[in-house]
Amino acid sequence: MKKTACLAALLLLLATVSVACRSSAVSESTTESTTDKKMVTVGFSQLGAESDWRRTNTESMQSALSEENGFKLIYKNGQQKQANQVTALRMFIQQEVDYIVLAPETETGWDFVLKEAKDAGIPVIIVDRRVDVQDRSLYTCWVGSDFELEGQKMTTWLHEFTEKNSIAPEDVHIVNIQGTLGSTAQIGRTRALNNAVRDYGWDLLASESGDFTEVRGKEVMASFLRKYDNINVVYCENDNEAIGAIAAIEAAGKKAGPDILNGEIMVVSFDGINKDARQYLKEGKISCIAECNPLHGPRVQALIETLERGETPEQFNYVAETLFSSLTDITSITVGTETYAVEIEK
Ligand code: AHR
Repeated sequence: MKKTACLAALLLLLATVSVACRSSAVSESTTESTTDKKMVTVGFSQLGAESDWRRTNTESMQSALSEENGFKLIYKNGQQKQANQVTALRMFIQQEVDYIVLAPETETGWDFVLKEAKDAGIPVIIVDRRVDVQDRSLYTCWVGSDFELEGQKMTTWLHEFTEKNSIAPEDVHIVNIQGTLGSTAQIGRTRALNNAVRDYGWDLLASESGDFTEVRGKEVMASFLRKYDNINVVYCENDNEAIGAIAAIEAAGKKAGPDILNGEIMVVSFDGINKDARQYLKEGKISCIAECNPLHGPRVQALIETLERGETPEQFNYVAETLFSSLTDITSITVGTETYAVEIEK
């Protein structure tokens, strides 16, 4: 009788343990498959790694679209070639990702591949530069900078500087080291300069692309200095070009600085992310930088989360940006009806 009771108790214990084990196994695998389901797969085609801005932008995307945040990110570096980016997009479509994020090198040439993504039912988020497509429904939304406004802020600042220092427009001799031709950042910043040259009557000596790199910025500036002996302003369409331009100015035995009626060459640029450029700003070698903010990762994450909730985000999402200067006498500028504070870097 005792033996039978013991055996029954043992069997009951074994049964309980076995059920407990099974139920824990079931709940673990349920958890796993729920996690799997929640992971959002994103294919991100970055255009390249030409500048500090771009590298910071890539890092921002990778840290926001991380596994901890519920994303499986497939990252492809286009190495500055649109053909590589098109191939990456086609690969993402084949892999049936949930979203495609595209940072395009230049504006044109995207219609076909974006139509393929749309036909596959994959929403596309454009980041940083824009795409110029006939049908705007080929992408869901865009987030980035107003590049022409950045240029308008810079040219307004330069105009204020000339007024405050009684410099006649015909004494302003500018060269423009442009960004990658056909990119939105180049188109907007160049357009702003060309309009200001027309409106204020400055002397624009030459414009040539430096491809947003330090190496090309130096080469282009060196060739400008060989051709023109009266350059007193260089408008660099990003900080890496500005660093290259300053190296060329110094190699030619000249000085980068704001005293433009007494032989110095004023350097102005865009971005504000490069540490050396910020140091040059403090030293007065760069006089003004229009900010271009690269931290789009959390913004893209928020857009995807909006879409995941079944809501519709705005199609165009602009980032607020400022101006940095080492000169203390211009503390704000007005473009159109908006006034922007200038952050004085000391
Ligand atoms: O499109 C943004 C621009 O691209 C940044 O100003 C430049 O530094 C980058 O390469």
